[in-house]
Amino acid sequence: MAVLVIGEAPTDAIEAAGLLIRLCRPDADDPLPATLTGIDAVILSPTATPAALPLVGPALAAEVPVLALGDGARLLAEAAGTGGTCGGATDPLLGGGAAPHGFRVGASAWGLPVPAEADRELLRRFAELVAGRAETTATRAFFTPRAAAWEERFAYQTPAYETAVARMRLRPGQRALDLGCGSGRALPALRSLVGAAGTVIGVDLTHAMLAAAARAGHGGPGRLLLADCGRLPFPAGAVHGIFAAGLLDHLPHPGTALREWARVTAPGGELLLFHPSGRAERAARHGRAVSPQDPLAEPNLRPALEAAGWRLATYEDAPTHFLTRAER
Ligand SMILES: C[S@@+](CC[C@H](N)C(=O)[O-])C[C@H]1O[C@@H](n2cnc3c(N)ncnc32)[C@H](O)[C@@H]1O
Repeated sequence: MAVLVIGEAPTDAIEAAGLLIRLCRPDADDPLPATLTGIDAVILSPTATPAALPLVGPALAAEVPVLALGDGARLLAEAAGTGGTCGGATDPLLGGGAAPHGFRVGASAWGLPVPAEADRELLRRFAELVAGRAETTATRAFFTPRAAAWEERFAYQTPAYETAVARMRLRPGQRALDLGCGSGRALPALRSLVGAAGTVIGVDLTHAMLAAAARAGHGGPGRLLLADCGRLPFPAGAVHGIFAAGLLDHLPHPGTALREWARVTAPGGELLLFHPSGRAERAARHGRAVSPQDPLAEPNLRPALEAAGWRLATYEDAPTHFLTRAER
């Protein structure tokens, strides 16, 4: 986990929280990183210059935590293009009167135009917040810059998604989720299975992906949800089917996710895991061998499903696709 510090800032509180510091000093002509990959947070110090702006906009879009101090706070406000809001009592960083002189932009950026000595406590809180969000931040930092082109780039795979969804036993009037729905490529096929009386909600952790889904016409009231698939805001047994493409093996804790998906699925409901290429083909494309630790390998997946409350009904790892169907 690394925090990019642009300019100079007291970093011991950040290091004490177990985060690595990556320094970028404009006066020393340090180049800015080209992307946010591997960066868990950005600190814009009082000595940051407008040269940092090309990274601040993408950080705001991907909700990578930003803490901006002194003149850095002015840069943050400039990048956001709007005024900030006051923290308020429930703000995770400024709440409880920790820094009444601070402001927040969006969900994950904070500015302190007049940093004070007491702000060392704030740095400690920031480090804690960054560590607690690191997995979410990594996902968003990776998928946000890819979101706008996702639908068009992979449009040729849509027929494979339709064929996969058709393997589900969902009936008209039922409720289903597309977890890690991305730009929502599977949503039309899922919605045609459950019909107008049914409900399909696309869930994703990356705001930009849901925005792409809405632009592609897959949105509408209550149809897209920004949430972590490991903590779903639904009661037990709320849905009849879950579709998840290209998701399980991206998750840091697949077993925990499978249990959460089982919790929200009614008895007799189903889970369909899909990828539009087989495991071997995908590994080769990424220049690596298929790992025996792969959570999608049958000897790993079958017991993980069973431990979570699923029964494996179909397992296909063909050159053209990966598809698993499990029943609750
Ligand atoms: C490889 S993409 C697949 C998108 C889509 N299912 C498709 O096949 O086109 C993985 C998606 O899962 C989302 N994602 C990753 N971790 C997630 C989590 N914990 N909860 C919800 N969505 C997550 C990412 O934001 C991304 O949109």
